[in-house]
Amino acid sequence: MKTQQIRMDDYPGERAPRDVWRLTSNPLRSLEAGEVSVALHTVSLDPGMKGWITNKRSYMPPVKPGAVMRAFGVGEIMESRAEGLAIGDWVTGFTGVQTHGVYKAAQLSKIDCSLASPEKFLSGLGMTGYTGYFGMSDLGKPIASDTVVVSAASGAVGSIAAQVAKLAGARVIGIAGGPVKVAYLTDTLGLDAAIDYKNEDVEARLRTTCPDGIDLYFDNVGGDIFSHVLGQINYQGRVVVCGGISQYGGNMDVQGPSNFLSVVTHSLTIQGFTMRDYMHRIPEALAWLSDAWQTDQLIFREHLIHGIERFPDAFEMLFTGQNHGKLLLKIN
Ligand SMILES: NC(=O)c1ccc[n+]([C@@H]2O[C@H](COP(=O)([O-])OP(=O)(O)OC[C@H]3O[C@@H](n4cnc5c(N)ncnc54)[C@H](OP(=O)(O)O)[C@@H]3O)[C@@H](O)[C@H]2O)c1
Repeated sequence: MKTQQIRMDDYPGERAPRDVWRLTSNPLRSLEAGEVSVALHTVSLDPGMKGWITNKRSYMPPVKPGAVMRAFGVGEIMESRAEGLAIGDWVTGFTGVQTHGVYKAAQLSKIDCSLASPEKFLSGLGMTGYTGYFGMSDLGKPIASDTVVVSAASGAVGSIAAQVAKLAGARVIGIAGGPVKVAYLTDTLGLDAAIDYKNEDVEARLRTTCPDGIDLYFDNVGGDIFSHVLGQINYQGRVVVCGGISQYGGNMDVQGPSNFLSVVTHSLTIQGFTMRDYMHRIPEALAWLSDAWQTDQLIFREHLIHGIERFPDAFEMLFTGQNHGKLLLKIN
């Protein structure tokens, strides 16, 4: 049988990433002992992929030129020579952007699709959900008296983080781009206020929506928004740095926030993280998220693009705000 895959020809650098993707096809190789073949159902599109196609030190090695593009995926086992994994089982893992693949069993985790449809395990019940959950609950530690600000708040991770803080009783203000996303934050997710950074003066709106200052900031975007928050953060405030998407340019030459010295003047604590820090605690996150979701206390959404050949379009959507919800590529 044939499999199709998206390969990265070379590091894009300052070129548009669109120029480096290539759709290839080859026969699926036969299994060795301990391996399974998987028909991919959906793969995840993540802003962090920009770092994976930049030849710089990061939390994972960069994708090698010519290799299948790295991605987290979910799929169904077609054939198995591995103990504990049978035909028809559903699995997640770093599958790459491809229609079918052969993997070592140890690369994959089994999921229970009687709980939710497969794509949910790449969204609120997967790495995205775990990131928002651990980043907010374990590092941010929101309490009822806190004013919490979350950027990219209507996005995949941000929407989870914002709701975790809300469920802890905090006052939560979300920042997002455009009237539809801002309305979603207040009307659907129930946040206390929302700021449209594309059409409003963020500094002025933070002043009116956070009259007692900001206690905790969950940063997904970096840049000017981070700087405006630092200008209004309270003494001994906390910052959780989850990402900095506004700074994910060609070579990831990130500029720090201009109000950075607030860290000194206001005795702030800043903590960054990746999910690598929490792999051993995934069952705890999955239990919390699935319970909150099944009891209608947690809302998350997916934004599906159909067809492996649409990967280049989908990738660009992340950086222009065209996605609303966890961006996924539906494969089979
Ligand atoms: N630390 C970790 O382990 C980890 C794991 C996953 C993700 N992350 C980070 O979390 C952040 C959100 O990722 P996600 O997966 O949840 O994606 P997402 O929020 O669903 O999609 C990206 C969103 O970012 C916003 N955005 C894009 N460019 C922006 C800019 N220049 N300024 C402000 N906002 C911008 C857009 O929303 P608007 O329309 O609102 O602009 C876009 O929809 C990213 O920084 C990502 O790198 C970190």
